Amino acid sequence: MSFEKKILCIGAGYVGGPTMTVIADKCPQHKVTIVDINEEKIAAWQTDDLPIYEPGLLDVVKRTRGKNLFFSTDIPKEIDEADIIFVSVNTPTKTFGEGKGKASDLQYLEKTAHAIVEASNSSKIIIEKSTLPVRTAEALEKILNSNDKGIHFDVISNPEFLAEGTAIHDLENPDRVLIGSRETEEGLKARQTIVDIYKNWVSDERIIRSNVWSSELSKLVANAFLAQRISSINSISALCEHTGADVSEISRAIGADSRIGNKFLNASIGFGGSCFKKDILNLVYISESLGLTEVAEYWENVIKMNDYQEKRFVKRMLSTMFNTLANKKIVLFGFAFKANTGDTRETPAYYVAKMLLEEHANVYITDPKALKNAKIDLAEFGNRIKYVDDPYEAAKDADAVAIMTEWDLYKELDYKKIHDGMRKPAHIYDGRNILDHSKLKEIGFDTHVIGKHSDNI
Ligand code: NAD
Ligand code: UGA
Repeated sequence: MSFEKKILCIGAGYVGGPTMTVIADKCPQHKVTIVDINEEKIAAWQTDDLPIYEPGLLDVVKRTRGKNLFFSTDIPKEIDEADIIFVSVNTPTKTFGEGKGKASDLQYLEKTAHAIVEASNSSKIIIEKSTLPVRTAEALEKILNSNDKGIHFDVISNPEFLAEGTAIHDLENPDRVLIGSRETEEGLKARQTIVDIYKNWVSDERIIRSNVWSSELSKLVANAFLAQRISSINSISALCEHTGADVSEISRAIGADSRIGNKFLNASIGFGGSCFKKDILNLVYISESLGLTEVAEYWENVIKMNDYQEKRFVKRMLSTMFNTLANKKIVLFGFAFKANTGDTRETPAYYVAKMLLEEHANVYITDPKALKNAKIDLAEFGNRIKYVDDPYEAAKDADAVAIMTEWDLYKELDYKKIHDGMRKPAHIYDGRNILDHSKLKEIGFDTHVIGKHSDNI
């Protein structure tokens, strides 16, 4: 079968996999191939046990795989054949050298750029799908276009805004698609090629065109604003616990103002995930590098507030459990950084588990999708942590249960049964504000809620 265009994606992770699967589904006229250096991952993408859990993903993969969606580890061959290459490799925070702990580690991106130059024998459009520091396109262009093969690469920025757990919905119905390019004749032509791909299912008014720097920076700023809202409401949750105000009522009251909006106002144990912290740190690093100290400090406080919220949660456990957690059995309900994903990167539950171990608590963890990752993340603690599939089983003889992830499953449990099996006094800490707190109190739980004093339940 002949295809109009050959689209390649380098990086088969949480972004590359779902994004390219949806492109394949919406554009049957194009051939989409996803490559990765990780052979195990590429093998898993070709089974029904996909390497990531994402609601609805398997259905779309099944519809497209083998028709116009393909997976491969032969990276040079696929690069050579492609017309358009999306780059969605990981861009973690640097753990060494200059910018350690803040700047983005761009080594995977740079390796990819060199691999593209080496394997290419024709001009191509290269798309930054990964989240990158502003002005990365300049560096990429330099690597790509300093070749002696007489070929040219146009670099486009097309950041991804999907959220895990709702990735397929977000990709199929995006609020907007952002496509940034150089505003030269060639750059605009390349931009239009990418616009035309999205136009297969996204209406034109939702496709935002911009210059390449605005596009790169908008992605960092979008994540910074989202995270800032969570830190803002979490800062107020601390105030509520001392004043008789209820943070959920505050979220509702301020969210009704259409200028503020009602999303991303759920107070919690803190935000997790692979990107919020990383992207804000990157914004902080860029600002510092430009001598914009006040700007850097402003955004750094969003992270400080998040760390404070995680620590505050464990401190509250301590103070409400007679100032000692030693040898107490504490069960974490959920380990994923949010519901509907098995992803545990930067999950607040990890930091809570670690702090509980420092207090010599006996930590048990249950989660419907993230136990495998939890065991890997917490491997250094060996059998000091127990992993249990069934939440009822996990909570048996526990002193406390703490809700870490807002899985629907936890809203539907029989808390009377859980309470009956626990040691008394039985404590429950709702780190996500998802349970019926007055009912828990009625059952007999010592009930602790983010952003609400226990006397007010
Ligand atoms: P990930 O770690 O899940 O996937 C990245 C993949 O790239 C890995 O499978 C890795 O093996 C592969 N890779 C690395 N170097 C390679 C190379 N040289 N050649 C081929 N493959 C290579 O990461 P992710 O969560 O998909 O994130 C990727 C990028 O997208 C990051 O910049 C991230 O900030 C951004 N992003 C992530 C999300 C999200 O929800 N996870 C959302 C929007 C944007
Ligand atoms: C986030 C952004 O929402 C995406 O737009 C972006 O593409 C992505 O980061 C990225 O760049 O990686 P994600 O991290 O997958 O997506 O999930 P979110 O829904 O944003 O949740 C992030 C964290 O904030 C979770 O731990 C969640 O539980 C927490 N959260 C969210 C709250 O504590 N309160 C809220 O009101 C909302």
